[in-house]
Amino acid sequence: MPYKTTYLCRFILLGVVMSFSGCKAPAEKEILSIADLRCEMLDNPEGIDVLIPRLSWIINSPQRNIRQTAYHILVASDPGLLANDEGDIWNSGKVASDQSVHIPYAGEPLKSRMRFYWKVKVWSRNGESAWSEPARWSMGLLQYKDWQGRWIGFDRPFAWDRVEPFSRLSARYFRKEFETDTGKAIKHATIYIIGLGLYELYINGEKTGTQVLSPSPTDYTKTVLYNTFDVTSHVRSGLNAIGLILGNGRYFTMRQNYKPYKIKTFGYPKMLLNLVIEYTDGSIDVVATDEKWKGNADGPIRSNNEYDGEEYDARKEMPGWNAVGYDDLDWLSAEYTREPGGIYKAQMNENMQVMDSLHPLSISRLNSGKYILDMGQNMAGWIKFRVKGQRGQQVKLRFAESLQENGELFTENLRDAGITDIYTLKGGGWETWKPAFVYHGFRYVEITGYPGTPARTDFMGEVIYDRMDDAGSFESSDTILNRIFNNACEGIRSNYKGMPVDCPQRDERQPWLGDRAIGSLGESYLFENAKLYAKWLDDIRQSQKEDGCLPDMAPPYYNYYSDNMTWPGTYILIARMLYKQYGDIRSIEAHYPSMKKWLGYMAARYMDHYIITKDSYGDWCAPPETIEAGKGVSANVKKPGMLISTAYYYHFLNIMQEFAEITGNTDDIRHFSTLADSIRLAFNRKFLKSDTIYYETSRLTDNLLPYYFGMVPTELRSKVFEKITGIIMTENKGHLSTGMIGTQWLMRTLTESGRADIAYRLATNTTYPGWGYMVENGATTIWELWNGNTAAPDMNSQNHVMLLGDLMVWYFENLAGIRPDPEGPGFKKIIMQPEFIEGLDFVMGTFNSVHGSIESSWARKGDTIEWHIIIPANTTAEVRIPVTNTKEVTEGGKSLSKTYGINQVKKSGKDLYLQLGSGSYNFNFNH
Ligand code: BGC
Repeated sequence: MPYKTTYLCRFILLGVVMSFSGCKAPAEKEILSIADLRCEMLDNPEGIDVLIPRLSWIINSPQRNIRQTAYHILVASDPGLLANDEGDIWNSGKVASDQSVHIPYAGEPLKSRMRFYWKVKVWSRNGESAWSEPARWSMGLLQYKDWQGRWIGFDRPFAWDRVEPFSRLSARYFRKEFETDTGKAIKHATIYIIGLGLYELYINGEKTGTQVLSPSPTDYTKTVLYNTFDVTSHVRSGLNAIGLILGNGRYFTMRQNYKPYKIKTFGYPKMLLNLVIEYTDGSIDVVATDEKWKGNADGPIRSNNEYDGEEYDARKEMPGWNAVGYDDLDWLSAEYTREPGGIYKAQMNENMQVMDSLHPLSISRLNSGKYILDMGQNMAGWIKFRVKGQRGQQVKLRFAESLQENGELFTENLRDAGITDIYTLKGGGWETWKPAFVYHGFRYVEITGYPGTPARTDFMGEVIYDRMDDAGSFESSDTILNRIFNNACEGIRSNYKGMPVDCPQRDERQPWLGDRAIGSLGESYLFENAKLYAKWLDDIRQSQKEDGCLPDMAPPYYNYYSDNMTWPGTYILIARMLYKQYGDIRSIEAHYPSMKKWLGYMAARYMDHYIITKDSYGDWCAPPETIEAGKGVSANVKKPGMLISTAYYYHFLNIMQEFAEITGNTDDIRHFSTLADSIRLAFNRKFLKSDTIYYETSRLTDNLLPYYFGMVPTELRSKVFEKITGIIMTENKGHLSTGMIGTQWLMRTLTESGRADIAYRLATNTTYPGWGYMVENGATTIWELWNGNTAAPDMNSQNHVMLLGDLMVWYFENLAGIRPDPEGPGFKKIIMQPEFIEGLDFVMGTFNSVHGSIESSWARKGDTIEWHIIIPANTTAEVRIPVTNTKEVTEGGKSLSKTYGINQVKKSGKDLYLQLGSGSYNFNFNH
């Protein structure tokens, strides 16, 4: 392809359009490669049940201004065909388009169990890339009738089980030997498994997959999730064995049975499994669960209860039980069980996995003879350890987040969660163990019964959360900011458990909606959480009542349908997050009707003269005025308020207008906007105290909400903003006073209205209340309460992420200055605008968007700012620099007019806005 060397750059400066012909593209040969092919946002997914999957890829190029002008996708049924550039399933041909994310599949109709191999090549103005490396995906069992066999398990307890709130139910072991046709060659072998509550799967003695604590929890009466594994390399010609262990998870849980509003157990563990063996001659064998499978509930896992821990008796191990040739004569026949009731659906979010390992910091001996292990970090996962001793000796581990003054575990804030693992030795050498079906939230571990003296090196902490990639990194010259960032990462990952939970340690661990409202947006800069949150939206929709009512928690393991705006409204905020951050329109399309229904339901019941009268939680967990005032006091206080519910309703109506536009429901726009107008007027009539110019009471949250949501009459905006800064700087002496609601809008309100300096002060305060105060007081995650070190223990987790509010959003969008332009969701268009805050010497931020990695790193050198940015190929960025004239900025040491990649310059207020194509740039300017 011929290379253009001269480009015409248009500069629009101070209203004058200036043309330059001096900025030339570098004359090196274009390097364009394609990486990270994804189907439905997953690498090489197995067993999906999306009929029109979406394909995405990332274009890499060190060159500037690279935009995809066309793509060509090939999908083949065989890798050989694909290697010959044949797409028998779909050959898109060359499609003129710059879309590289979420391209809807448009080939042959997809059927159950089909496997596909695909690749893509792209064009840019300079030429054509090579074909990408191939990727693949496979289809799941799309219809109920595709499943063979029946559900098996034991729908009953055994003599040693205890079916009561603090239940003890042993794990169920199942096995089956089967023979493949030795006269034929195996082409593929695939397992589809629904193992409830949790399963571990083995073929010929080997564990399948790296997942733990799978599948993800759901309301099993509505949906059960199946996992798919390609086991071609595990199945041998001839005799084979499958082994399965079933744990209880959320399926069998008696804990809440005695409480009226809490969900009852779903039943005893059970499973449905299909192993499909395809031979090269096209014939198929299916091994499915039926009564010929053998089962045993008397194995080594004696009890497994998410809250109370796991008990394992190694003396009861059954060597070889999951391999061929094991004598299972004394095992029972598996029993048919009732179906769980939910529809079968492929799990599209990532399973949990051991994601990290932590060596303990120290081990110490208490006078009582117990040992205390300090992990140095509050974490969620389990302890793996090794031990050598006599047969029958028992090692007991108990877990807690903190210690009492005497060095013993502090367990009061865990309420009635037992969190104790017990291991009984078989004796005869080193034994290594970790639990299979529980996890704990802890920093400290109490060890009793360990034979000999336990050494630090005998123990390892394994951190468990959903297998999602890290999305971003952040570092700055401010150590408090950095420590808060680390604590936020640790807290967020602790609470991704196939659903976002409130906390990983006490007797709760529930998917409360309110906790993730704006937090989910901040989290998306740290972790690739799209699949998890898309799954959660499904959980939420399924929990909607016929009349439109949404719960405070989904799946609704606690049946709390308290009719408020703030918790259920997370439904809308997360759909918007998925659109903004990942460019995912489907979530909005899929959930639009139920969101609309919910808003209608709330208005019909609770709207009185355009005021929404029902709220449940108020500004949940707002800080007590002083640290002393909150001492020993329970934080479980609800102060509901109509200001909050009405302001939120207004905000949701505005978002719904965007959604209506996106989904083509344009007829709804007028309804939403007229209602929003009436609500705004009524809101100001009721809550705005025009004599003093503040809302309702003078609380910070009461003023932040109308201000951020755009409800304040234009002429009073600056007055209300003065009130906001006045409350913070004068009344609160430079501190926040927001709970979980206000904190979600706080940092952006201040920054977007020109007071990033105040936001910075709030972020770095080490005095009460603030995130820095938590850090200074030993937090290694984020606390549930601003006064977590003094409040009563009844509701006081040390690993809750809800108080992060919009802090992580602020780190990335305002400190690093990386955010998606609403005009180009999914970072197709990027806005880069850091706040070069006095007192900060440098900020380095990276973010892996669906279009590729974005970087923004700036450093202050005297009066000069050096700002390095990377804009991924096939995206553009509006880079905002706080200078008024192009002459005040250089790029790579040269004037802007000599900079290749700048497509337009315009002046906006006190800033220059540069429209940049992809590539790496180094700006320099005085500030
Ligand atoms: C949970 C919170 C939740 C709240 C609502 C608490 O016990 O831990 O995170 O949002 O209850 O009632």
